[in-house]
Amino acid sequence: MAAPAFDFTPLLPAGLPPPAARWTGLAKFSFVGGNNDPEQVPVEGLIDAVNAVLKREGRTLATYGLASGPQGYRPLREFLAAKLKHDAGIACGSDDILIVSGSLQALDLVNHTLLAPGDTVIIEQETYQGALNRLTRLGVNAVGIPLDRDGMRMDALASTLAELKRRGIRPKYIYTIPTVQNPTGTILPEARRAELLRLSESYGVPIFEDDCYADLIWDGKRPPAIHAMAGNGCVIHIGSFSKSIAPALRVGFIVAPWEMLSRMLALKTDAGSGALEQMVLAEYCGAHFTSHVPKLTRGLRVKLDTLMEALNEQFGTAAEFEEPKGGIFLWVKLPDNVDTLRLYQAALTEGVAINPGPEWSTNKVHSHSRLRLCFASPSREQIREGVAVLADVCRREFGVPVRIANVERHARG
Ligand SMILES: Cc1ncc(COP(=O)(O)O)c(C=O)c1O
Repeated sequence: MAAPAFDFTPLLPAGLPPPAARWTGLAKFSFVGGNNDPEQVPVEGLIDAVNAVLKREGRTLATYGLASGPQGYRPLREFLAAKLKHDAGIACGSDDILIVSGSLQALDLVNHTLLAPGDTVIIEQETYQGALNRLTRLGVNAVGIPLDRDGMRMDALASTLAELKRRGIRPKYIYTIPTVQNPTGTILPEARRAELLRLSESYGVPIFEDDCYADLIWDGKRPPAIHAMAGNGCVIHIGSFSKSIAPALRVGFIVAPWEMLSRMLALKTDAGSGALEQMVLAEYCGAHFTSHVPKLTRGLRVKLDTLMEALNEQFGTAAEFEEPKGGIFLWVKLPDNVDTLRLYQAALTEGVAINPGPEWSTNKVHSHSRLRLCFASPSREQIREGVAVLADVCRREFGVPVRIANVERHARG
C-alpha cells in the first residue's frame, strides 16, 4: 500500500497567494496573453548569434554575472543605452540600466522598493492585468484614471491628485503605459506627457513609465519617453525584449537614478538574470534590431487588419473598437448586455480564449462588456475562424450579434 502523501498544508505561512492552477495547454484559438507571432521570431539570426557569442565569450559563463557585474551583461546595456537615446531620447549610460528577468521582475522590484500595504498608487483605468494583480496582492489601493483616444486624461489625473491631497494622501507613483497602451493601444501625445510631468512635480509623485510596446508602432514614430522629458529624475522607465524579439527569453530592463537602482539591486537576490539570453540578445540586436522591427510590425499590422475585418464581418456594429496605433492587442466593446467574464467561460469551452475586460480595469462596470484580443500569436486563419466561433457563442449566450453585414445571421450548423 502506498504511503499517504505528505501534507504540507499545516506548514504554509499565512498570506501566501492562492495556489496556481495546473496548465492545461493553449486554447485552439488563443487570443490571450502578450504572446508574439511565432513566424516572426528571428530564429536563424538567434542561432548565428548564440554560436558567435558562445565561441567568443562562452567561458565567461563560469562567473556569476559574466564578469559584467550584477546589473547585467555590459554589451546588452550598451546596446540599450544607445537605442534608448536614439529612439526615445533618453540620455543614460550603461550604468543607469539594470537588466531583469522580463519587465515583470521590474514591476516587482519597483513595487517592493516603494510600496507597503495601505499605500495608494495611480494607474490608468484600463491597464495591464499583471500590474493590477500585483497591486491587489500587495494590499495597495490603485486609483484608476480614465483614458480617451490619446491615453490617460490629464484633467481626470489633476482632479484625482487634488482630491487625494485634500484627503492627506500622497500616491507612491503614477504608473503609465504611455506608448501603445495595454490594452487600449493609445499613444500619449507629447503635450500630455509634459502635463503629466508638471502634475508629477507639483504633487511630488514620481512616474513609473512602462514602455514595453514602444517598438511596435505602425508608422515607427513615437513621442520622446517621459523619462527623456523629465528634468529631475522623477521617472522610473522600464522596457522589455518580450514584444520586439520573444517573451520566453525573459529579458527586460530598468532605467532609474542610482538612488533607486541600488535599492532594487539589493532586492534582486537571484544572482543575475539568465546570462545566455542576454548574450544572444546583445549579439543579435546590435546587428539586426533595426531591420527586424519594421518586418515584425508589418506582419502584426496585417494580422490586426484580419482581426478587424473578421470582427466587422461576424459582429457587424455589435463590436466597436478604436484602431490601435501599434502593438498586439485590440480592445473591443460589445453591447451592454454582454458580460465578458461569462462570455470568456462559454467561449473557452468552444476552444476560444479571450481576455475579459474586468480583469484589465479598475472600473468593473465600464469594462463589463469589453474584452481584449491579442492578434499576434494566432495565424490569420485562426483569427478568422476563432472570431466566427466567438460570434456564435456570443449570440447563443447573449442574443448578439443579431445581424452581420446587413444579413440576418443564422446559427452555424
Ligand atoms: C504593460 C506590460 N508590462 C509588462 C509586461 C511584462 O512583460 P515581460 O515580463 O515579458 O517583459 C507586459 C506583458 O504583457 C505588459 O503588457
